[in-house]
Amino acid sequence: MKSIILWLTFGILTNPTCSEVFGWREWWKGTVIYQIYPRSYSDTDGDGIGDLKGVINRLDYLQDLGIETIWLNPIFESPMKDFGYDISNFTDVDPIFGTMADFDDLIADMHSRGMKLLMDFVPNHTSNKHMWFQRSRECNDSSNLYMDYYVWADMKQGCVESDQNSHDKCVPNNWVSRFGGSAWEWDTKRKQYYLHQFLKDQPDLNFRNREVQEHMKDVLRFWFDRGVDGWRVDAIRYLFEDVLLTDDPINDDFYPQPNHQAQYNSLVHKYTADLPEIHPIIREWRAEVFDKYSSLGNYRFMGTQSYGDAKTLGLYYGTEENPEADFPFNFQMIKISPESVSGFEVYRLIHDWITNIPDGAWLNWVFSHHGKDRIANRFGEQNHRAAVLLNMLLPGTPNVYYGEEIGMTNIEVKFEDIQDPWGKNNPCCWKELNRDKVRSPMQWDIGVNAGFSTANHTWLPVNQNYKHAINVQVQLEDSFSTLRFFKKTLQLRKKFPAFRTNTLKYSFVSYEVFSFWRIPDEESVSSSSFLIAINFSNKSIKADYVKHFMPADVNLNTTYGRIKISSSMTRDEEIVDLKMLHLSPGEALVIQSYAIRTKTRRDFKHDLFYCFIYFMCCIHYNESKFDSN
Ligand code: GLC
Ligand code: MG
Ligand code: CA
Repeated sequence: MKSIILWLTFGILTNPTCSEVFGWREWWKGTVIYQIYPRSYSDTDGDGIGDLKGVINRLDYLQDLGIETIWLNPIFESPMKDFGYDISNFTDVDPIFGTMADFDDLIADMHSRGMKLLMDFVPNHTSNKHMWFQRSRECNDSSNLYMDYYVWADMKQGCVESDQNSHDKCVPNNWVSRFGGSAWEWDTKRKQYYLHQFLKDQPDLNFRNREVQEHMKDVLRFWFDRGVDGWRVDAIRYLFEDVLLTDDPINDDFYPQPNHQAQYNSLVHKYTADLPEIHPIIREWRAEVFDKYSSLGNYRFMGTQSYGDAKTLGLYYGTEENPEADFPFNFQMIKISPESVSGFEVYRLIHDWITNIPDGAWLNWVFSHHGKDRIANRFGEQNHRAAVLLNMLLPGTPNVYYGEEIGMTNIEVKFEDIQDPWGKNNPCCWKELNRDKVRSPMQWDIGVNAGFSTANHTWLPVNQNYKHAINVQVQLEDSFSTLRFFKKTLQLRKKFPAFRTNTLKYSFVSYEVFSFWRIPDEESVSSSSFLIAINFSNKSIKADYVKHFMPADVNLNTTYGRIKISSSMTRDEEIVDLKMLHLSPGEALVIQSYAIRTKTRRDFKHDLFYCFIYFMCCIHYNESKFDSN
């Protein structure tokens, strides 16, 4: 009898795999998105730059780590002024990265492992070497088929052509480029200005041109036909600018400081960012391209990228009737700095996002990427594991930048060696602005160039801390390493229904501490709940998580819990009393327990069902205490 009950219990409590739980349209809810900056991941041809074959060679590693989804930064043909974000041909692979055959091999290999590939869609601009731009600049005349492919404007009235090179007084208006300086560049051939929200080598496309819109949809189709599973859409907020070229207003709140982005921040980008016309375009991508390809049974994911407040970014989800992105990437955590990091600040940023996006919208978290400081530099090295826990165990989809799983840190690059145009073009502030510091080669082992490349010279220097345990090889063998910690956290996330809901319950929050519960939905009431408690301070903290810090609509079935993961990895499996939980300085804990949501309205049949589940659960609980479920 006992074994039958146990068997039954096991049947009820066993966790289905993520894809079963989420269904084919929602696979992106159950996954972790691992970002690969291909120049820096793995170099197979010895030129010091990573390539597609390199990514293929590392799929075993990624699969073993538990990664199922990769987002690849641009690999398209490009003069590489902005390292691939200046695209001269949207439908070919740049030879630096390999060939189309390599790409096909990559996707075939990934799909055979059940992995998904996301690519980078850059609709706002092309390279100035793109054929469309070359043709567009030829003349301002309706015989030119490409005349309106870009955003062209005349010089200000009263100016003459010879004024152009010397100063800015003739530019059409006050718009500023994201990378510094005027957003307008004089073209000597067409004798007009063209708009560039980024580098002058990245002219903005004119999205009011129907042909441009159609061409860009064809770009998506081209790669969908080759099997791509979805897209990260680059710089979405810059897709349109005011048609009347109205000056952007002065930002009254701007406090002039020797800030690296002073010029950009001195204006409110009312006429150059987040214009309402963007949304119908995204809906069209969704309805006419993504959904059409999804009907083949393989749901195609869309995530949009741009910065802004949570309310504005929330609009990129669209509505139920008119869906847009599956989610806009959430950069709240990128706002943390080593000076600001605290329990309360983390709470504030999380809460701000959750309360400002549309109700029920699926969450996601970005803790670092190819343009912002690495986690260890942003949160402080002592908080790196805490940040990994947050990323993995907050509700929603985590985004992981390559190398974070081993705790890679920023590199220091000398001014004369800077590659990134944002650093290079801003001698005043290159230290803050250069993005090279977060793009250094992946640290694989203790060999030459950390196993990244056999070249004498890699495109960016390898961080020398690879010699001191920040490399994959050493960390795989060390059971207390960051890599093992990362892997264990990912396994926990996949195993328990509590981590598949889109909700959290805040618990004790103070200047020092941030903590929250993950509780399964009512349907899976028999399964474990988890308390995640993080001490960001260098003080010891003792807290009563039962008396003071239970959310109102949650019941705790026991006052004890079992630590499943501790940041030091030395307390794992320890039983703790939640009435007197002790957190050492900088400690982060994941504690398994049995908290449940307080009953809401339910019918009798429903209650009977729950009685049965409780009965089974108690037996199971007595048998195996805090065991696997
Ligand atoms: C996004 C990308 C960045 C790029 C820019 C222009 O912000 O993250 O790397 O430089 O768009 O495409
Ligand atoms: Mg190479
Ligand atoms: Ca634009």
